[in-house]
Amino acid sequence: MNIILGITGGIAAYKTPELVRRLRERGADVQIVMTASAREFVTETALQAVSGQPIRDNLWDKAAEASMSHIELARWADAVLIAPATAEVMARLASGAAGDLLTTLVLATQSPVAIAPAMNHVMWNNPAVQANRALLEERGIAILGPDSGSQACGETGAGRMLEPDELAATVTGPGFADGQPAGVLTGKTVLITAGPTREPIDPVRYMTNRSSGKMGYALATAALRAGARVMLVSGPVDLPPPRGVEVHDVLSADDMYRKTHELVAEADVFIAAAAVADYRPVSVADKKIKKSGERMTIEMVRTEDILASVAALPEAPFTVGFAAETDRLNEYAIDKLERKQLDMIVANCVRDGKAFDADENAVEVFWPGGGQAFPLAAKTSLATDLVDLISSRYEAARGTGTEPRLSVVSIKD
Ligand SMILES: Cc1cc2nc3c(=O)[nH]c(=O)nc-3n(C[C@H](O)[C@H](O)[C@H](O)COP(=O)(O)O)c2cc1C
Repeated sequence: MNIILGITGGIAAYKTPELVRRLRERGADVQIVMTASAREFVTETALQAVSGQPIRDNLWDKAAEASMSHIELARWADAVLIAPATAEVMARLASGAAGDLLTTLVLATQSPVAIAPAMNHVMWNNPAVQANRALLEERGIAILGPDSGSQACGETGAGRMLEPDELAATVTGPGFADGQPAGVLTGKTVLITAGPTREPIDPVRYMTNRSSGKMGYALATAALRAGARVMLVSGPVDLPPPRGVEVHDVLSADDMYRKTHELVAEADVFIAAAAVADYRPVSVADKKIKKSGERMTIEMVRTEDILASVAALPEAPFTVGFAAETDRLNEYAIDKLERKQLDMIVANCVRDGKAFDADENAVEVFWPGGGQAFPLAAKTSLATDLVDLISSRYEAARGTGTEPRLSVVSIKD
């Protein structure tokens, strides 16, 4: 497999010699094309040594053009990966500029192009950068990452380049170089809520539920593997943030509502896997409530319905709800599907300690006019099947795809 690795002037360029090694270990021939700024971060000598090829960096290099012109180079590539991709190169690509060798190659190639953005999290969240991301995605460029975590600038957030191993696995993985999507959700953004919420009573007490967040986190990982950009709004859980997923931590149902609505405009698919409190205390005491009488009453008020509010948006994403019930599971689930005007609902029985905090689950899924049962399986493999089904239904709902590949196993209450 022939890969052009475009390196641009981000601090993460220091990881590119390792990326070249990982690509070569997977059998790829790598031709490196650097921008002028990339030279400030990584040396030609190191890259030439690991790639075994002279580095290309100049559109006006007569000797290089005589051996393999930029057009021949664009044809030679089975895939183009730009890692790290700066905000600047994203802007150049979005505008169709061709002022340097790398951007000229991207315009001249018919092979799949992937970029691995890497920048400070405030830069990444800048509306101009996000608009360029959306445009590039729309034009079929695969956006790999970015990851969340601590950054070279000392801050924390979304903007880290994905690790070299993950990038190499994706670009050399099944389907990518054949022009097939890297996954069923490549180019799509999936917003997922997960975990419980905490409703404060006073400074030391809160009400919560037994959700562990495992299902939502497994769905986030599965959606990421399917090629999606994944945003996860997570209640307090004891799980490591999935690598490559943009995690937004929240505590209360109100926080989750606000964060979800802040992000939802970017989402093609919304999966509400969180166990959101239906009620919260009317008021939160500012001092610890002291022990007094034999009984106490806490007055509660309804929280905002996140799922219904997203489904009711004028440009709602494909909306998937979860129903956790102890009895009359399917009846309640179908009622919720219809009442809240959802595209799909996943029903799981939480009687006798099932589902909550378990590593396995069995669910029944319903959508308008259909349904499918998934027998007991590890949440991780169930998540993969659910993401597959969601993407098929999403495409069917938008009139672009085929019916779900998985067959109906059983629908029973
Ligand atoms: C020390 C330093 C680190 C930088 N790191 C990044 C970065 O991580 N991501 C980014 O988008 N830009 C970063 N920049 C800005 C780019 O280098 C600058 O926008 C440059 O014009 C990019 O050019 P290129 O895309 O042609 O390589 C950094 C600049 C400096 C001076």
